[in-house]
Amino acid sequence: MQLDILTLAYIIGSVTFILGLKMLSNPLSARKGNLIAAGGMSIAIFSTIFLYETEDGQGLHNYVWIFSGLIIGSIVGTLAAKKVKMTAMPEMVSMFNGMGGACAALISAVEFDHVYREFRLDSNSFAAVVPFGHYFTISAGAIIGGVSFAGSMIAWGKLNGRIKDFTFKGQHIVNLLVFGFILVVAGLTYWSNTSVTNIWFLVTILTALVYGVMFVLPIGGADMPVVISLLNSFTGVAAACGGFLYNNKVMLTGGILVGAAGTLLTILMCKAMNRSLMNVLVGSFGTHAVAAGGAAKQAGSYKEISVTDAAMLMSYAKKVFIVPGYGLAVAQAQHTCHELEKLLEEKGVEVKYAIHPVAGRMPGHMNVLLAEADVSYDKLLEMENANDEFKSTDVVLILGANDVVNPAAKNDPSSPIYGMPILEVEQAKTVIVNKRSMKPGYAGIENDLFYQPKTSMLFGDAKAALQKLITEIKNI
Ligand code: TAP
Repeated sequence: MQLDILTLAYIIGSVTFILGLKMLSNPLSARKGNLIAAGGMSIAIFSTIFLYETEDGQGLHNYVWIFSGLIIGSIVGTLAAKKVKMTAMPEMVSMFNGMGGACAALISAVEFDHVYREFRLDSNSFAAVVPFGHYFTISAGAIIGGVSFAGSMIAWGKLNGRIKDFTFKGQHIVNLLVFGFILVVAGLTYWSNTSVTNIWFLVTILTALVYGVMFVLPIGGADMPVVISLLNSFTGVAAACGGFLYNNKVMLTGGILVGAAGTLLTILMCKAMNRSLMNVLVGSFGTHAVAAGGAAKQAGSYKEISVTDAAMLMSYAKKVFIVPGYGLAVAQAQHTCHELEKLLEEKGVEVKYAIHPVAGRMPGHMNVLLAEADVSYDKLLEMENANDEFKSTDVVLILGANDVVNPAAKNDPSSPIYGMPILEVEQAKTVIVNKRSMKPGYAGIENDLFYQPKTSMLFGDAKAALQKLITEIKNI
């Protein structure tokens, strides 16, 4: 009977996880989706703690350890999530992902110890007594979880500036050799005498940690969201291995879903940047200004616009599009931006937002930022739809965005971003670009849009510029 209730709890956990994931795809239902998935997972966790039957038939009894871990983890997690700034979100995701990888590796280590104690005295090698499939799952969980943990920690350090990019000639060959070494040692663990099996297993885990560090070290800090998403899928696969080992359905479902979602997100991000995963992993793009082709050339003269003129233009426009970018997030100007939107609408101007899939530094960055400021979701247009509407737009106001509106992606085959889909803002009647200087964005390349006749620059911090615009518009 107890087992039945536990199975039911696992089904609830799995179903709510799938449901929650589905609801996360829309900002309106995302919060609820998160809560539903967390609720279902809590049911699965507490059911395991109280209903799981161990081999000795006693059930779990080390409650002091279990609840100490749960309480400390919950307090640290809640405080970290409440404190984190939007721009620091990728590093927090990375840290949490690393913890998931470490958990999966530890589960494999515990299961290895379990098998080792059982068979050490009976046989010459694991191969003689432990089915290969079982050992493979233990080993895969340990290796993938270890790589994910170490890689995520390096990604975390890079994103908060504590760790610098590190590259040397032939690094990728060395990485390949280290990976090959892991496979050899994992094989030795299985086929060698049980007197040294545990040492080989330890070497396997340690080398996986070294590989995780070396895998992420050369990747440009700004490419980290793609790598974090990839590491996230690794953690999912490692957790699924744990599900296999303990025949735990909810862990298996959760792991597979995380693995699949992480892989899809990685592919989507690469597609939106028109880069292959290999290019992200091997090319150190975004860490320094790219001097290739005509990329970094000075494109001519630009014109500035005063706050008063910008306010006039927008107040008398029929339709205004706001293009948010990374700079808006840095300036934390989302609330001020929403204020401007409401003010313009009071004056009869139609206001919409154009959202590029990789605007900002993490997936959905702009959607989350604007949702936080209560911007209505139906005002947010995805790139394709926004591109259809720019022709009938009077003013496009770009707030701290750069690469996602760079026409070089369409016109300049020598540009590193050539082929990346962009917001075609130059189709609008007037373009106002707010940023602090003429410096390039993440890709490190000049933007020809800033020098076009219909473009005017409104220099300054996004929040300060928006506040000045609001004051001016109120006086019109
Ligand atoms: P960027 O091209 O990085 O441009 C941001 C601009 O904001 C900069 O040129 C900067 O110019 C300006 N800025 C910075 N602080 C500001 C402030 N306080 N006030 C006003 N402006 C400020 O950003 P984007 O257009 O959003 O493009 C995103 C880039 O990140 C793309 O290249 C994309 O491929 C990459 N990327 C995105 C993701 C995801 S998933 N979102 C993942 C990996 C890579 P100033 O310094 O002159 O102010």
